[in-house]
Amino acid sequence: MRRLRLTTAGESHGPGLTAVLTGVPAGLEIDFDFVARDLARRQHGHGRGHRMKIERDEVEFRGGLRGGESLGSPIAMWIENRDHKNWNQVMSPVVNNPDQSEKRRLHSPRPGHADLAGGLKYLRRDLRDVLERASARESAARVAAGAIAKILLRRFGIEIKSGVRSLGPVGAGRPTPTWAEIDQVDDRSPLRAVDRELEPEMVALVDRMKAEGDTLGGSVTVIAHNVPAGLGSHVQWDDKLDGRLCRAVMSVPAVKAVEIGSALTVSNGSGSEAHDGIEAGKRGDDGSWARTTNRAGGLEGGVTNGQDVVITAYKKPISTLLKGLPSVDLDTLKAHRSQYERSDVTALPAAGVIAESMVALILADALLEKIGGDSMTELEAHFQATQALQRTWPSR
Ligand SMILES: Cc1cc2nc3c(=O)[nH]c(=O)nc-3n(C[C@H](O)[C@H](O)[C@H](O)COP(=O)(O)O)c2cc1C
Repeated sequence: MRRLRLTTAGESHGPGLTAVLTGVPAGLEIDFDFVARDLARRQHGHGRGHRMKIERDEVEFRGGLRGGESLGSPIAMWIENRDHKNWNQVMSPVVNNPDQSEKRRLHSPRPGHADLAGGLKYLRRDLRDVLERASARESAARVAAGAIAKILLRRFGIEIKSGVRSLGPVGAGRPTPTWAEIDQVDDRSPLRAVDRELEPEMVALVDRMKAEGDTLGGSVTVIAHNVPAGLGSHVQWDDKLDGRLCRAVMSVPAVKAVEIGSALTVSNGSGSEAHDGIEAGKRGDDGSWARTTNRAGGLEGGVTNGQDVVITAYKKPISTLLKGLPSVDLDTLKAHRSQYERSDVTALPAAGVIAESMVALILADALLEKIGGDSMTELEAHFQATQALQRTWPSR
């Protein structure tokens, strides 16, 4: 990110998580209920493990705000890990309890996790030293920061939502959802599915996988609505907004493929079925032209074109299986099933909320890059001026 910067810290069973978000302009009023709602959305979903029953994520703001408004300085946020009290003998940042630590030592790596590669890289005897930071618990800090980015974007009319498109084989191959479909996803439904009719089948599949000690992945679509044309750039490879978005969404734990618009479908067909015709005459407030379709997912040449930005993340099944997977015991170097750590069967609805946060951070960054300014007042003036210029383009 260029104008915004996010650093997170904290271990899964340590005292808590820290997020520091730098680059938010002064004068942004923070809607604390909105931040709390997004954190609760990340915890929700059929198929989550016992941990989410222990945690009640709440953000404590420790810097960068005064009276509920941003100051332009780094925003520091803290989220307590309630589960730490059950782990303080093992995960104290300052006190070493070798006997307790030994009891919880991870010595048989779980395939699909950072356990083995991270242990080898950092030369840690206890793979818990890797697991604790690689855990998706860290994503709570990203969601807190992403909520700030969403609040900023909302000031310019931009909204971001997501929905589960497929879970395992259920819904796989379903067409790319539209904003109207994503907008009606019910946050209280068990899996936040785009197609509610598929939800009972999805729930039954999660229950069956749980009974069998197995896990599931799937896909989740994020749509950013009302995004102005002209964010990102075609001029340099690392300016291209599609690449910047894909990198951010790919960083969501267990996401292994990212699709812009209907890329998978159009890659199987011809050019005449792939692109979005331009409708002469029909223009938006940002000067963008209406399009016949939105297969490009709102991005052409790495620049937003005024259509909805549509991104689908494909998530591998959860790597911790109750029944284990072939692995090695690092004490004996002999074959051993991977160890079990309390785990989810699926976390797709939560992954959607995290992906929304990553999209929000990247879009807010690109908006700041495009219009600039240190205060919300300046930003709003620049935004209006840019829109007016784009609306009158290309007339002289
Ligand atoms: C919200 C969320 C919750 C997750 N919960 C678990 C879990 O309980 N158990 C597990 O093994 N993996 C879980 N994962 C997936 C792992 O974090 C992920 O597979 C692991 O970090 C390796 O992924 P990577 O190769 O993308 O880094 C979760 C992912 C997300 C997004």
